[in-house]
Amino acid sequence: MSGESGRLFTTTPAAVGAAPQFSPREAGELLRRLYAMDGSLEPLPSERDQNFAVLDRGRPCFVLKIANPLENASALEAQDAALKWVISRDPSLGVPRPIADRHGNTISRTGGPDGKEYLVRLLAWVPGSALASVERHHRSLLKSLGWMIGRLDAALEGFDHPGLYRELHWDLSRGLSTAAANLAEIDDANSRALAARLLEACKEPLRGGLEGLRAGAIHNDFNDHNVLVQNGRVSGVVDFGDMIAGKLVFDPAIAIAYALIGKEDLVGTAKWVLEGYQEIIGLEPQERELLPELITLRLLMSVAISAKQRKLRPDDDYLTVSEKGAWDVLRLIDKLGLERIRSGLAKSLWRDKAMGSSPGSATERVLAVRREHFGRGLRLHYKRPLHIVRGWMQYLYGADGREYLDLVNNVCHVGHCHPKVVEAAHRQWSQLNTNTRYLYDELADYLERLLALFPEPLKVCYLVCSGSEANELALRLARAYTGRRDVMVLDHAYHGNTTTLVEISPYKYKGKGGAGRPDWVHEVELPDTYRGRWRDPKQAGEQYAARIREALSRQGAGERIAAFICESVPGCAGQVVLPEGYLAAAYRAVREAGAVCIADEVQVGFGRVGNHAWAFQTQGVIPDIVTLGKPIGNGHPLAAVITRSEIAEAFDNGMEYFNTFGGNPVSCAVGLAVLDVMEEEGLQERARVLGDRLLKGLRSLAEHHEAIGDVRGLGLFVGVDLVRDRESREPDPALAEKVVERLKERGILVNTEGPGDNVLKIKPPLQINEADIDRFLEELDGALRGVDPLASAVSPPNPHPQRG
Ligand SMILES: Cc1ncc(COP(=O)(O)O)c(C=O)c1O
Repeated sequence: MSGESGRLFTTTPAAVGAAPQFSPREAGELLRRLYAMDGSLEPLPSERDQNFAVLDRGRPCFVLKIANPLENASALEAQDAALKWVISRDPSLGVPRPIADRHGNTISRTGGPDGKEYLVRLLAWVPGSALASVERHHRSLLKSLGWMIGRLDAALEGFDHPGLYRELHWDLSRGLSTAAANLAEIDDANSRALAARLLEACKEPLRGGLEGLRAGAIHNDFNDHNVLVQNGRVSGVVDFGDMIAGKLVFDPAIAIAYALIGKEDLVGTAKWVLEGYQEIIGLEPQERELLPELITLRLLMSVAISAKQRKLRPDDDYLTVSEKGAWDVLRLIDKLGLERIRSGLAKSLWRDKAMGSSPGSATERVLAVRREHFGRGLRLHYKRPLHIVRGWMQYLYGADGREYLDLVNNVCHVGHCHPKVVEAAHRQWSQLNTNTRYLYDELADYLERLLALFPEPLKVCYLVCSGSEANELALRLARAYTGRRDVMVLDHAYHGNTTTLVEISPYKYKGKGGAGRPDWVHEVELPDTYRGRWRDPKQAGEQYAARIREALSRQGAGERIAAFICESVPGCAGQVVLPEGYLAAAYRAVREAGAVCIADEVQVGFGRVGNHAWAFQTQGVIPDIVTLGKPIGNGHPLAAVITRSEIAEAFDNGMEYFNTFGGNPVSCAVGLAVLDVMEEEGLQERARVLGDRLLKGLRSLAEHHEAIGDVRGLGLFVGVDLVRDRESREPDPALAEKVVERLKERGILVNTEGPGDNVLKIKPPLQINEADIDRFLEELDGALRGVDPLASAVSPPNPHPQRG
């Protein structure tokens, strides 16, 4: 709920007296007239304005805000403009979105019942409960508070508006005089003396010390009623009514001042908020120095103004309740001393973390340690590798403070750090983690839920820790069941990192450092209808499958295969969509030869393809063994093998299969949470709808960019094949690399794939939205324009105009 309720202090008494007095019926009229909207209205507490929650079937959807007639219109315009600016720069930030009236205005002028003119706004409801109502502020909650402030401040960077330059009671840069002017209102002599003492201590450092600090648009009111919490972390911030052009450090200082209320450990509390903030915005030395004074001054302003307010409104109990908390903190500060707070923070925050280091040097350090001590043989993405400090849903945040739209991480399937998954892991870790030699509910719960997603006869599951472990086990199952050793694979396939899996992965054994194909591995052509031998989508499935039948018929007795393993949409091979009928014909041939069919769904499973939970279903087949990985645990090391009972029985030959970590309670709780989120948030359907939008947009781009040879994919598993020439279809890896780098510069992460390293692979967390896709299309258009000489020769009308 908007934090206007229970704020410690208000603006002027005159403004309070002039608060609008619309009845709910009159406000309902207003809603209909201005926004053509019906809905029941519930008054929300506000001291200087009048606010109503607009409910739809009992659920709040909007806040109708009728501004105080004494409110400065330019300040309202600044708020609206700031919100729009923030939303455009950081769309997933939980801030109220201004809604336009019937005439397209987000601020409407209208007559009130008293004949006066009022300014009215409608804002989208931001879900969550006020931080003030959350009983325990654990570390991660405090850290997420700092992080939210950092994100908001980073998003506000560069925003300016004349309405921000106003005189406001709550401006910390005038705090010394505001607090001093109201000190005499404090009745209790001891408290007054304490306040005077602390004010005196703040004077010297703050006088003149503020000059030269970084300045810009700030929220200026991160009190605990304006900060919203969901699933144990700060998810939003409301009430931009006190925005001003101020010093950047005021925002964390104000938030900390309120966060300290009710806490014993001042330094510890401040430290966690600052840790979160600094992940986005590094504080400069002078800003750090002044933090103890700024926090203290905000609290002093609060108690002094509150004392005055209390005299004007003696019946307002709420003011007194909050005031007590602020006094308690001030007493603790007095006892501890500002210097000890400063050195405590320095010790736990700045000194530990390479004091004075810039994000740049922190990145250098990580790189240097990796070079020296991390196992070799791994390529980092990008020419200038990305140093990431945080993830949230479809976004990643760099040490450089930038936000990146992640279009490539299919592991964080339901969103980076999805709170429900994080919470499940945290809850289970705090309760029990053990192994599958014991009985625990979570395993039974998870097996039932996961297997319910599979068709008969797939009803036995093994839980392991990685896609490689899953494929290893799948081979063992197939070998135990058939009594054979050989394996048939598709060209360019990758199935994992163990010795055996490298041996069945042409992508590895034919690549750099590879030892070539072992004689027990049989390779068949990739059924690629873009660059392969057969390209007619209607016939290609049968044609490529016929090659399998042929290969099997040539096999001698000693080389009969145990299994045919195939990704349901080959990824490393370049996001290749199998032609219709391919798997059905291939499986028929393989089974006739007495072998089993393994579907590797490690990349593509869990609803990514949109129409189905599993990509093999798009081919109308049921495999004998299915392997799952990457998205299954949203980043937690969990993977699975699903098979038929007879195969599982054949494998149960006396030798135990024990996996220390596989299927432990934490993994099961995480896996369950992923399935819950998929279901609750309709993510499979989202993959379908957004995948269609993406494919359509890419195909329309291809009309104007000769370099786009092919666009293919299912749901949100998509490839864009970049070519030097559409006729020859020759891959253009250099262009692909440039595009990847350019997109990164524009805050979008994609990567390349395929034998020619020329296919842009797109497989984002399923949380992406329409705006993300449109932005990607627009930026890809720009990136291709910048590097594609053919495109400028074509000079088409731009279907995705550049932003201004
Ligand atoms: C299709 C496929 N199978 C298996 C694996 C191996 O999974 P993991 O890296 O979790 O061992 C991968 C990993 O990239 C993969 O893409």
